[in-house]
Amino acid sequence: MVPDFFQFYFPTKVLFQAGLSRDFSNELSLLGVSRMLVITDSHLLKSGMIEPIVEGLKLGGVEKTVLFSDVPPNSELTAVKKACEKGMEIEAEGILAVGGGSVMDTAKAADILLTLGGDLVQDYSGAHTLTSPLKPLIAVPTTAGTGSEVTQVAVILDESNGVKLSFLDRYLYPTIAILDPELTLSMPPKLTAMTGMDALTHAIEASTSLEANPYSDAFSMKAIRMIKDHLAKAVQTGSDLKARSNMLVASNLAGVAFDHAMVGVVHSMSHSVGAVAHVPHGMANSILLPWGMEYNFDVAKERYSDVGKRLGVKTQGMAVDEAARAAIEEVRALRAELKRACGLPDRLGEAGVKESDLPKIAQLSVEDGSSFYNPREVVEAEVLETLKRAY
Ligand SMILES: [Fe+2]
Repeated sequence: MVPDFFQFYFPTKVLFQAGLSRDFSNELSLLGVSRMLVITDSHLLKSGMIEPIVEGLKLGGVEKTVLFSDVPPNSELTAVKKACEKGMEIEAEGILAVGGGSVMDTAKAADILLTLGGDLVQDYSGAHTLTSPLKPLIAVPTTAGTGSEVTQVAVILDESNGVKLSFLDRYLYPTIAILDPELTLSMPPKLTAMTGMDALTHAIEASTSLEANPYSDAFSMKAIRMIKDHLAKAVQTGSDLKARSNMLVASNLAGVAFDHAMVGVVHSMSHSVGAVAHVPHGMANSILLPWGMEYNFDVAKERYSDVGKRLGVKTQGMAVDEAARAAIEEVRALRAELKRACGLPDRLGEAGVKESDLPKIAQLSVEDGSSFYNPREVVEAEVLETLKRAY
């Protein structure tokens, strides 16, 4: 399907290689950055993963670095401000972000302040508010799920009032994404499963979004196949470099897909489950994905039939309805496999959500920005029914 209008703009240079994070001097030399702010979290710092990466920067001409490692699990305004102040200490010319989504979002927001100045990054929140390119940002993901290393979005919590601020701008695309699967080898099984299911949700929701186009589809469909073939293996055998490599690349592809096509009702619900009951994002997506697919069944079944093929369904000779149902069952089967392997919950109740919270979650889901791109109108009463089924 070719829509009447679409665009595809993707400026991030993506490099993949095992061990690459320890030496990407060629790229650094091209950038010509000699003072660099390194942003990570305390857990990764303690793991010893950061030191060899910072050491490797010297090979590419970086003479001075300063480290900020106080990124909380959900990126917050205070952390952005402090990270920027660290960068200013050495007049940083670029930023290296090593971590998951929270680290990368913090780095994107810190880059805004560091480049454009001002005290409050919240002054730049919203869409397309930036007036000039930012300092080079190199994103090195240590999980395989968020895809934040290739998106133009950052979400930062204003901890003073509990509101999440979104930043969306073409200048927020990282300059370079370094995909080094060795960095993901030590991810525990449950985190691997959650983040992998987040990536699968990005790919499936991007494929049915109102903004889907042939480019986003190409990325979605490849990502779905790679996740189907490698996620369970990466969870069961964390040291499997091949499975880890495939998952890291799949997450990246899914990130490109949803950056261009956006997501839908599964993310609306999981954002709201996260806000109300603090269920981790990937876990909420994993629980809600098949139910969200059922919500969209009537308008998205043709697409689900395509998704089914990538999930290994033998669709030949099947009616569209049957193939689409089989796709949803494949998602359920993958979830069941992950539950057996690492105990990933497949019910909202099991994830600690209270039944009395469901009406509030349904209300927030309708208001969530992702609902705007869902192929079917997001109606509160029906979302509540869906949440009850997932409970
Ligand atoms: Fe997500």
